[in-house]
Parts: sequence; structure tokens; C-alpha cells
Amino acid sequence: MDKIIIKGGNPLSGKIQISGAKNAALTLIPAALLTEEPLTLRNLPRLADVDTFGHLVNQLGVSTEIEGKRPEVFGRVMTLKAGRITSTEAPADINRKMRASVLVLGPLLARCGEARVPLPGGCEIGARPIDLHLKAMEALGAEINIGQRFVTATTKSGLKGGHIVFPIVSVGATENALMAATLADGETIIENAAQEPEITDLAQCLIGMGAKISGVGTSTLIIKGVTRLHGDTYSVMSDRIEAGSYACAAAITGGDVELVGALPETFGAVIEKLEAAGVAIETTENGIRVSSTGRISPVDIETQPFPDFPTDMQAQMMAMLSLANGSSVLTETIFENRYMHVGELERMGANIQVAGRTATVRGVKELTGAPVMATDLRASMSLVIAGLAAKGETQVLRVHHLDRGYERLEEKLSAVGADIERVSGD
Ligand code: EPZ
Repeated sequence: MDKIIIKGGNPLSGKIQISGAKNAALTLIPAALLTEEPLTLRNLPRLADVDTFGHLVNQLGVSTEIEGKRPEVFGRVMTLKAGRITSTEAPADINRKMRASVLVLGPLLARCGEARVPLPGGCEIGARPIDLHLKAMEALGAEINIGQRFVTATTKSGLKGGHIVFPIVSVGATENALMAATLADGETIIENAAQEPEITDLAQCLIGMGAKISGVGTSTLIIKGVTRLHGDTYSVMSDRIEAGSYACAAAITGGDVELVGALPETFGAVIEKLEAAGVAIETTENGIRVSSTGRISPVDIETQPFPDFPTDMQAQMMAMLSLANGSSVLTETIFENRYMHVGELERMGANIQVAGRTATVRGVKELTGAPVMATDLRASMSLVIAGLAAKGETQVLRVHHLDRGYERLEEKLSAVGADIERVSGD
């Protein structure tokens, strides 16, 4: 297993190119199933999860051609052709690796009248149930059969428009419902829909394919079903979580970095919390400039659905706040087990107490490099951020977690002055 070795203390300075958004790509790829015409996605990030989803749709009969972009150029172009779907079952082995594979449910049901997806087995950060996805499909007229290991959804006479009211905000369930509703017969109303920018990206791509959607960017989506969608070419939005992660890296090292391609309107409460921590944020014509004296003020954070503070930024902010001049209280309201980075940050000298969903981070004067273990994608990034500021050498093990969400991390960070290298290990 590869590891990343960081010698901390260098302030980051320069420009970081932000890649296409992983969580937009992972819902735009299954959207290709909704039409027999080619869907071309531009600005796709070079990430393990994107490759995994490509292999998944290949197993459903979808061809995926990647334009041979030179590896040093960011942003791949993938053309997906779902002319003939040969399977309506998402393989269990892929689902274990990537929860997002459940996002083939809505498109397959809408296009083929059936879909089989594995029952969730949970993952590092929580149980990851899919009950809200299934209830949404039932509201569109699907019949759901829950087996030992798989859930089968079928509709004999095609999906019908329905009224979906989500009891809690769910990004994935909103995406499945939105995609399925585009081909349902009649009008669908989705209430308490997630408003994450990745949902807006999906809606805009679907509208480009001929879908009739209103309320985009709000918590109520209204979809008028159409009989078919056509192909299109769509460019994936830039990754707000990657950008926010590098903003924390710039802040903790007392650096000055321009995040090229970052979209301020997708940052939600992250900008407000970074500024409250004493980080200077400036919108430039190419993106967002982040600079800091290195003195971090404590900030309380509660994760909530967009536009409030995103759960995917909690671990990264915790790393930055571990060096604040005071105590910060973080409350994780979205996932039940998203503090696995705490133990590893403590090994580096952080002073953090967890009680249930709340973590109290008492700022310390300095962190000390140590060998630490990555457990999930965002936890891994929090260890890198801590290592960039820690005294001495930090070794982050199991970096395959990072490869799921951060394209060319070492390259991007060393280009702005980090002393970081990737060492391939057994
Ligand atoms: C998406 O996951 C993201 N993944 C996650 O990013 C992100 O953390 C999450 O949204 C919240 O913003 C992708 O987009 C691929 P949810 P998703 O459904 O859709 C509960 C990353 O690091 N729930 O919004 O799975 C669920 O347990 C990843 O990039 C149900 O109870 O999240 C959680 O507590 C991690 N029943 C809450 O809702 C359901 O049927 C929010 O989950 C579905 C969800």
C-alpha cells in the first residue's frame, strides 16, 4: 500500500487547479442511462471512484470512451453510450467499494422498468441506509422487493409522476428521485429536496438532455416527465470540497494560495467559517484566493445540509482548528461515525474530546509529525492538512482512500511548496 510522507512547516504559496467535482461526476455518470444517445461529460476528475463507476456502467452494457487527454492535462472527457442496456443489476462487489452505485436505481427503473441494487453494508462513516431512495421509487409507482442481499424495484406499466416528501435531506435519494422522475408519466413534486450544488449540476445536465425541471437550487423540485431524453455534452462543476480542503491547507500553513476554478457560490457556510477563523478569502477572476497569517481563531461548527456547513469539510476544518488559539466545538449531525480522524490527529499532539456527535478541539501550540492511518476519504485529507503544519515528518498510510477524492494530491501540493512525496509500498 502506498504512503505519503510530508515534512511539515512550509507555508503554501501559488496556484492550485481545482478538479471537477467527484460528487457531481458520480451522479452525472448514471444519468447517461436515461437515454440511448451519447452523453459526453467534460472536466471529469481523474479519480478512483470515477473509474469504478465507469466499470459499473460498462457491466450494464454502457460503452465509455475516454478522450486520450494527455495525463498532465486536468479534466478528462468521457462519452457514455447507453444504446442498449444489457443488465439492470448493480454488482455487489462494486457497491461495497462505492456507496454511490445505488444511483443507478432511479435511471434503470425509469429506462428499463426494473433495477436490482445490493442492500447497503454500511461503510466507515455510517450505516448508509437507502430507505429514502426506495420510498421515493414507490412514490413513483415502483414495486420494491427486499431480499437477503439485494433490493429489486420493478414497474410494470412505467413510472408515474408522484409527490415525494423527504423526512430528512438526502443528497443521493434526491438524485435518484430526480433522475427517475424525468421519464415518469406526469408531474412529480419533490419536497425537502437536497440543495447541494451537485444536485443543481445534475438538474442542469438533465435539462440539457431535454428534461423539464423547475425549482432548481431550491428544496422543492417540480419535474414534468417526458417520453425520452436526448444526448448532450456537459461540463462537470468544480469540486467545492477539494477546494475547501486546500483552503484549510493554505490556512494552517500560513500560506497564500489561489484556488483556480473554485466557485464561491458553491462554498456555502465554508467561507463564513474560514473567515471567522481569521482566514482571508478573496474572490478573484479565476477563483478564490485564500491567505492566512497562520494564527487561527477558534470557531464552532455544526454540519448541516447545504447551504450550511458540509459534513464533507468537518475533518479538514478540525485539523486546521487543532492549532487555533482557543477551543472549538464541532457537531456532526449528518453521519453517526465521522470522527475516525480524531485518534490519528491526537497521535500528532492534537487535544480533542469526543462526546457522541460533538468534538471539542482545544487548540495546541504545535503538532508533531507521526505515522498515521487513513480510514476514510475526508479523514485522510485531515491528516495531510495536519502533516503540512506539523513539526517533523508525517507518514499517512493507506492513501488509497485519498485517491478516491483527490486528484494528484501530491503534485498539486508540492507545486505550491509542500515537502510531500508518495512512496509506493507493499
Ligand atoms: C452524499 O452521500 C455524498 N456522496 C457524501 O460525500 C456526503 O457526505 C453526503 O451526500 C452528505 O452531503 C456522494 O455524493 C457520492 P445522504 P449520500 O443521503 O447521498 C441518511 C464524500 O466524502 N440517509 O445525503 O449517501 C444517511 O445515513 C462523501 O465525498 C437515510 O437515512 O448522503 C445520512 O445520515 C461521503 N436513508 C443522511 O441521511 C437514506 O435512504 C445524509 O445522507 C439515505 C440517507
